[in-house]
Amino acid sequence: MKDSEKSEKKTKYDVLLDKEKKLLEAGGRERIEKQLKEGKLTARDRIMMLFDEGTFEELGRFVEHRVSDLGMEEKKYLGDGVIVGYGKIDGRLVYAFSQDFTVFGGSLGEMFAKKVCNVFDLAAKTGSPIIGLNDSGGARIQEGVLSLGGYGDIFLRNVRYSGVIPQISAIMGPCAGGAVYSPAVTDFIFMVKKVSYMFITGPEVTKAATYEEVTKEELGGPEVHAEKSGVAHFIAKNDEECIEMIRKLMSFLPRNYLEDPPFVPTDDPVDRLTGELRSIIPEDPNLAFDVKNVIEVVVDRGTFFEVQRDFAKNIVVGFGRLAGKVVGIVANNPDYLAGCLDINSSEKAARFVRFCDAFNIPIVTFVDVPGFLPGTYQEHNGIIRRGAKLLYAYAEATVPKITLIMRKSYGGAYVVMGSKHLLADVVFALPQAEIAVMGPEGAVDIIFRKEIMSAKDQAKVRAKLIEEYKEKFANPWRAAALGFVDDVIKPEDVRRKIIRALLSLEDKVEKLPPKKHGNIPL
Ligand code: HXC
Repeated sequence: MKDSEKSEKKTKYDVLLDKEKKLLEAGGRERIEKQLKEGKLTARDRIMMLFDEGTFEELGRFVEHRVSDLGMEEKKYLGDGVIVGYGKIDGRLVYAFSQDFTVFGGSLGEMFAKKVCNVFDLAAKTGSPIIGLNDSGGARIQEGVLSLGGYGDIFLRNVRYSGVIPQISAIMGPCAGGAVYSPAVTDFIFMVKKVSYMFITGPEVTKAATYEEVTKEELGGPEVHAEKSGVAHFIAKNDEECIEMIRKLMSFLPRNYLEDPPFVPTDDPVDRLTGELRSIIPEDPNLAFDVKNVIEVVVDRGTFFEVQRDFAKNIVVGFGRLAGKVVGIVANNPDYLAGCLDINSSEKAARFVRFCDAFNIPIVTFVDVPGFLPGTYQEHNGIIRRGAKLLYAYAEATVPKITLIMRKSYGGAYVVMGSKHLLADVVFALPQAEIAVMGPEGAVDIIFRKEIMSAKDQAKVRAKLIEEYKEKFANPWRAAALGFVDDVIKPEDVRRKIIRALLSLEDKVEKLPPKKHGNIPL
């Protein structure tokens, strides 16, 4: 062989370098530019940004599809449209996949699905969370039923590993048809403004079937899912913010169901007094207040991270830290619907309580609830079935449960909202707490109807009876006398007392009776 020929012949090492270069080209310059023009990052940039710098290791880089129909043998891309692998987030091992819209529109075929399933299995075997960055036209049309099977294989893993490892989905582009069901099974869904949408049937099919004219955004944009359907837990203004928020969420989660969530030391004193609560929570039960102000005061300064902020605002859920330990917070918010429980708030809180219980996160509940929301809309849409979910979730949860009854706690809602009866470990009440079957006005109108009707001055008699009822029943003392409330405490002691209770419960062990699984009213 001549010298010139020798130098042209590629070494095996060079072949690898060439392939690595090809990988970075993804679906080609043009398609990458289109992606960037839409305000999206590339699949590779997203996954690199997700992990601590220099920690990402890719798997299955050279996987290709093996389909030959419809001219597919001519179109092959290394990696087959999805980047999968593992890396560190805040130093902890996490698995991820990132769908590449520049390759067949990020659509999922047989080998693509195999790669995703591989990281799911590795995540489960190593007890590591999994994060999916979704940007896909759905089932790869050219691969037909192979592609549908691939989705099935992923759904199975979503379900089998639910409660084993945290699963997080970010929707950073299209997500349509049955493809939405993989994210839907995961624990948390992020959506990115302007570029993402999720629906089962798109605008065109919707129009054909129902004559409704609707845009993609109106049908399944981030705002719709954050505010109306409750499908999305977080919305971000762009890809960068989305990834930042995912990393923040991860800081509250354990790696798997056997571990505790990460402890972060705090310089916020554990015995800091919370006297501000006296003015934040009005004694007058008819005055509203924003429960988020209560939460902010009680938790370690600046640690509250709200989940599903824009959905069912009458209940607030989220993570926070107390003495550096992660807690899940559930709080009625009197600022919306007077803090009533309704169909959406019950489901929102129930799913959150179950997540916390699955992953060893103690639950702190702040109660100010006048009851379940009345009305035909609520009844016809299953307030019975959906409210039952919340009661089920609290009763089933074996993590430490601490409850503070701030003000109203009436009727069934009293029992449901982390009461002693559902095995809360420690229940506190503020002096202005009102724990009774119903509010004074309603109660008096029912039990003294005859007396009031027959009185000369009905208003005066009614007012007197209401006062008497308030005196006797609308307070924390009966419940405290019966041991349903462990202690009636001053507002300034709330943080201190909750932290002490939390620390006292660190080694709590509680087991449910043996069973295959319960039957939560879904
Ligand atoms: C194969 C696909 C594809 C798909 C898009 N592409 N979707 N290839 N299978 N499902 C390809 C396009 O051919 C194109 O290739 C490239 O991706 C970009 O697509 P565009 O249409 O040019 O992009 P855009 O205008 O941004 O529109 C994006 C889109 C649209 C809205 C997602 O592509 C679309 O409607 N695709 C079909 C969506 C769909 O119906 N999927 C099936 C859903 S049902 P080139 O070579 O031109 O770049 C489903 C069932 C799952 O997923 C079942 C689970 C059980």
